[in-house]
Amino acid sequence: MTRRRADRPGPVGGHLYRREEDRRAEFWTEALGDPPAVYGERIAYVGDRPLRRWDPYRSKLGAALARGWTGPLPSPGERWLYLGAATGTTASHVADLVGREGRVYAVERSLRPFARLLALGGRYPNLLPVLADARRPEAYLDRVPLVDGLYLDVAQPDQVDLALANARLFLRGSGALLLALKTSSMGREKDPRRHRDEAEDRLEGPFEIEETIALEPFHKRHFLLGGRPTRALVAGASAPPVSRRAGPRAERRR
Ligand SMILES: C[S@@+](CC[C@H](N)C(=O)[O-])C[C@H]1O[C@@H](n2cnc3c(N)ncnc32)[C@H](O)[C@@H]1O
Repeated sequence: MTRRRADRPGPVGGHLYRREEDRRAEFWTEALGDPPAVYGERIAYVGDRPLRRWDPYRSKLGAALARGWTGPLPSPGERWLYLGAATGTTASHVADLVGREGRVYAVERSLRPFARLLALGGRYPNLLPVLADARRPEAYLDRVPLVDGLYLDVAQPDQVDLALANARLFLRGSGALLLALKTSSMGREKDPRRHRDEAEDRLEGPFEIEETIALEPFHKRHFLLGGRPTRALVAGASAPPVSRRAGPRAERRR
């Protein structure tokens, strides 16, 4: 079998790069941190710019991109609140995407991963580690400003509640939500698609869901949901009547 020669990564927009390898899309981010490798990922240079390969098996947002994600993404200059940062694998790519002028407020509650996140913050000037519990957002109100994006990957049964509570406090009206939904944390007795439907039902209203994507084969029983806040989020309202939904769900799902 002949292997197609890999192209060099080319810019997609902002600090995101893409390349085709054997007809599969690979994504890379322009490294802001120094030195560039954070979790053993490959490094390539475009001119004198170091790029870091985004491993879809290690990152849900990386997996969503590899699956063809067209929903919201962090952009240069934006501020993102990242809940469940662990050791910073995905948070480092988000920090690359928002660039030097942007900020990532990376919340993690467990001490062990937080120690590595703290070390990463030393190398990434725009990544600010916060040791806190996302269930108590008032505890970091003094350290986190209004943000342009909220990324949540806590793998907990109440992940949708945490997204809503933090969005109400921190997310701008013009912002974006990215929620990595781990359905096995919500109970294995239901089909993952039922959990996805229920999560969408809870989010629709406070948010307009732009895209939902299954993360198989990279992350089993996971989805990424992306959306924008509506006025109902600010007002603290819960789900609206079905007629207010943006459109047929099937068109927004892959
Ligand atoms: C699936 S891992 C996150 C992986 C990470 N987002 C990445 O892609 O590199 C989930 C993380 O969420 C953290 N976590 C769980 N519940 C949390 C909470 N209530 N507040 C803050 N962090 C939490 C866990 O300690 C764990 O490190």
